[in-house]
Amino acid sequence: MRFFGGMPNLSPSILGADFSRLGEEIASAEKAGVSYFHLDIMDGHFVPNISYGPAIVKTIDGITDRFLDVHLMISEPEKYFEDFVKAGADAITFHLEARPEPIEYAKQIKAFGVEAGISINPDMPVEKALPFLERFDWLLIMSVFPGFGGQKFIVESLDKVRTARQYIRDKGLSTKIAIDGGVDASNYAGVVEAGADLLVMGTAFFGATDRAALVKKIDGQA
Ligand code: DX5
Ligand code: ZN
Repeated sequence: MRFFGGMPNLSPSILGADFSRLGEEIASAEKAGVSYFHLDIMDGHFVPNISYGPAIVKTIDGITDRFLDVHLMISEPEKYFEDFVKAGADAITFHLEARPEPIEYAKQIKAFGVEAGISINPDMPVEKALPFLERFDWLLIMSVFPGFGGQKFIVESLDKVRTARQYIRDKGLSTKIAIDGGVDASNYAGVVEAGADLLVMGTAFFGATDRAALVKKIDGQA
């Protein structure tokens, strides 16, 4: 699938949706104008929480044709690349903390014909990820410690976005920058200004009274 870039995009994190009405939540997000969905996979080992697996991703893929951005917060992520590709992932992101030598895994993901992303936690300096960016389609900067939705945005993450943006520009790379955790109506403008291409939003998106207005504000921002 294509990247709807040129301006930032909002990617609703399904973790923030009402799972008893998942189909309606997805339809409502589509109607609000989103082009992406962010799917958080947690294994109770890499992070202290368990979410859902390929079966739910497949269910979601069956009801939307939007870009499915799968965020693996799991140990030994490569064991599951194929399962998530088969389930309908358009991009697979894993953590540098899980695989400090990530290049081989980027190759594996791309060999399946989907985009590859590398993610870093708030306590990982962005400089550690920079040398690998030419191999990845996405850099996902965590602005909370992963494991749960609804946490407070860590402001220092903005410096990481700026540093990565500068590096990507200087090297002429096409890697896109996504930010994940605690992004809401009060802080998204700063994130965009720092240079993020994709804003993941769980609580703030599914809790918004006017989802369409939020999408319009973010996707329409130059
Ligand atoms: C955090 C997840 C995030 C989370 C975002 O572990 O990776 O994607 O769902 O949710 P909010 O926007 O509520 O922080
Ligand atoms: Zn996530």
